[in-house]
Amino acid sequence: MAQNADKDRVIIFDTTLRDGEQSPGCSMNLEEKLRIAEVLAGMGVDVIEAGFPIASVGDFEAVNEIAKSVKGPIICGLSRATKGDIDRAAEALKPAERKRIHTFLSTSPLHMKYKLQMEPEAVHDAVVASIKHARNHTDDVEWSPEDGSRTEHDVLCRCVESAIAAGAGTINIPDTVGYAVPEEFAALITMLMNRVPNIDKAVISVHCHNDLGLGVANSLAAVNAGARQVECTINGIGERAGNAAMEEIVMALKTRGDAMPYYTNVTTEHIMKASRLLSSITGFAVQPNKAIVGANAFAHESGIHQDGVLKNAETYEIMTPESVGLTKSNIVMGKHSGRHAFKDKVKDLGYDLGDNSLQTAFKRFKDLADLKKEIFDEDIIALIDDQGAGASETIKLVSLEVNCGTVHNPPKAAMTLNIEGQEKSCQATGDGPVDAAFNCIKALYPHDVRLQLYQVHAVTQGTDAQAEVSVRLEEDGRTVNGMAADTDTLVASCRAYIMALNKLLLKRQKTAPEALSA
Ligand code: KIV
Ligand code: ZN
Repeated sequence: MAQNADKDRVIIFDTTLRDGEQSPGCSMNLEEKLRIAEVLAGMGVDVIEAGFPIASVGDFEAVNEIAKSVKGPIICGLSRATKGDIDRAAEALKPAERKRIHTFLSTSPLHMKYKLQMEPEAVHDAVVASIKHARNHTDDVEWSPEDGSRTEHDVLCRCVESAIAAGAGTINIPDTVGYAVPEEFAALITMLMNRVPNIDKAVISVHCHNDLGLGVANSLAAVNAGARQVECTINGIGERAGNAAMEEIVMALKTRGDAMPYYTNVTTEHIMKASRLLSSITGFAVQPNKAIVGANAFAHESGIHQDGVLKNAETYEIMTPESVGLTKSNIVMGKHSGRHAFKDKVKDLGYDLGDNSLQTAFKRFKDLADLKKEIFDEDIIALIDDQGAGASETIKLVSLEVNCGTVHNPPKAAMTLNIEGQEKSCQATGDGPVDAAFNCIKALYPHDVRLQLYQVHAVTQGTDAQAEVSVRLEEDGRTVNGMAADTDTLVASCRAYIMALNKLLLKRQKTAPEALSA
């Protein structure tokens, strides 16, 4: 069942919550996935791949909850080519208004021989059987030949033809290992269009990894060759070097319609909001020179450039900052700004907060304004992202006092935590103030985890800037991120650590039957 009525429209299939979440250290909890899915729906993404339901109870729940509550996009669940996987995906997707099962099986010689240990004939038959089985649950079935770009053409054509005949409406060609180069990948799509007799019955999709930094280039080359669905992720997160970045695909098509006359349904003004939310949830900062969403993407440092931009922005800007959701004025708010101005500002920044969240955010804004003279957009964004993060909290920071300095006494921290409703206090020393504070947490709630990342970033300029701290913890191969912002770096550090620890506790309650990757 081909679903793209308009031949020039490119379907945006977002896999931030599935392939993106497979980035080491990028795991998200249910509440976080729901927030991201809502933002994706709000920006007009066509398909949300919400997870891999058989992979863990957490993945199943995330797909199921997103299927229940996120309206608009098709909600998709990934499955291998087995009945058990497909049935689990179908069960998770049951509440969705529009659902898709995405099933995959490797077809390259390397994968068939070493990973699957299956002959091509058996792979072909398994593909057909899996799609037929998935069609018992939904009319909307997508099939992917994993490692498609390294698959022999005869094998690929036969499997694709049979997959369409068995009922797959979307055929996704993955460059699983990011090996392809644009001309060659475009030629692969052309080859399929020419050789597969029933190819017009399906939408051709592409899924490009970024191992050679070519994920976006390969995806766009494939669109030029006839692909009409692109699988991508916000900020380009994903396995290893990541997936093609959605914001780059969408803005390239919007900006260069002259060279690539295709369009998407994405409201590009939501891009920054999605990018910031994702990086605040995962703790994966965006590199400053990242296209579209990097802090420098619209910054002009050299005098010649600044002069040009002041005379006519088009001299050095190929797209407007507003078109990706950057507000022009970094308007300063302060302690005298009222609820109304705050509400307008929050709306301008692209957030749609309910009354209670707005009330909490306003109170936190006022508290911040007591500490900091000028409140910038970035401060408000950090404050809202921080407040929404709340994983259900077993541990809460009640108070913290830290002594440190140039004298030769070891830095010392005194802390009170609320642990499951009970307040507990202690003091600890450490190799530095942060170490001392983290030692307090370990003393009050003994645990054995590895600190993989501790990162501090100033939200704005100035010594009164809020510090945004990211902490990544690892336990038995499970990684979680915590992020918090505060004008006090030590408080932000402890809150970020405690947030990550709370997430880890939540994860412990869930079982992961087997480690799966796609
Ligand atoms: O990279 C890949 O091949 C995948 C498939 C499951 C589409 O993620
Ligand atoms: Zn992938």
